[in-house]
Amino acid sequence: PRVTIVGAGRVGSTLAQRIAEKNLADVVLLDIVEGMPQGLALDLMEARGIELHNRQIIGTNNYIDTSGSQIVVITAGLPRKPGMSRDDLLLTNAKIVVEAAKNAIAHSPNAIFIVVTNPLDVMTYLAWQATGLPRHRIMGMAGVLDSARFETFIALELGVLPADVKAMVLGSHGDLMMPLSGYATVNGIPITELLDAPTIERLVQRTRNGGAEIVELMQTGGAFFAPASATSMMVESIVLNQSRLLPVAAYLQGEYGLEDVVIGVPCRLGCSGIESVLELTLTDEEIAALKVSAQSVRKNIDQAQK
Ligand code: NAI
Repeated sequence: PRVTIVGAGRVGSTLAQRIAEKNLADVVLLDIVEGMPQGLALDLMEARGIELHNRQIIGTNNYIDTSGSQIVVITAGLPRKPGMSRDDLLLTNAKIVVEAAKNAIAHSPNAIFIVVTNPLDVMTYLAWQATGLPRHRIMGMAGVLDSARFETFIALELGVLPADVKAMVLGSHGDLMMPLSGYATVNGIPITELLDAPTIERLVQRTRNGGAEIVELMQTGGAFFAPASATSMMVESIVLNQSRLLPVAAYLQGEYGLEDVVIGVPCRLGCSGIESVLELTLTDEEIAALKVSAQSVRKNIDQAQK
């Protein structure tokens, strides 16, 4: 298989490395900056003998070279600066993502699209519109990353192995995201048995602020290692047809009482894309929070379309 990554910046180039070095697929890295994706591709190719894989990595500025991709990942666009919210990127990134989606679908009409550019849920919606794809073939990456952050903070608090913690974050990828503490466990034990309510609330808040915490520390751009890992997990589930149940930003048609909006919900991911959307039992409070989350995404979709 072949995976195209549009935007060879920090998330895109790290994702290229993950995909090639996990031996999942050949990679085409595309960027508007001339020479940069070509240089990165050559650099990654020169590591192959040491990393022991034989995947092709191509760098390009031309969509012709992306033809026939099974998956297209869009990471093109600006990242946040300190003090900015993801929504501040709306209008600049909307133009970039719509153009990228149109160009990519023209050369890979059968591809499954994964959007990474922020503000994530709105960009996924705009890319869905621009490509005209059926909804199972387009999705956004956010929930896997936000869940990994929540799991990390729980593991740090309890001093346990991160792999023993399982948690899920739904909703929009922003200040209104919904870490589901009622479903978080350590090897099957609910965290509510292990931590008191104020501590759980502190970890939930740190998760909501997880991206901004890194932007503030780095001052130049945002997180990219964990975002690349999270995206590669989704690519892997599709390429290897694993049917993993992951939180994914999906276009909803009535699920959770929501319609014509993109938001993070648990989805089964396989070779055809989103195989199904799981409707979890949520508390009344969580259902209300999901609605508020969806309303804010809808407001931004409308603003981007003005
Ligand atoms: P970056 O600035 O390192 O890379 C962005 C790349 O996009 C640059 O190389 C730039 O030249 C390229 N680009 C700009 N316009 C383009 C166009 N029209 N066509 C092709 N390429 C174009 O930024 P980084 O850190 O890689 O982040 C990329 C995006 O991903 C940002 O919007 C960021 O907010 C978002 N992000 C989303 C996450 C999520 O959970 N969904 C997590 C981390 C980042």
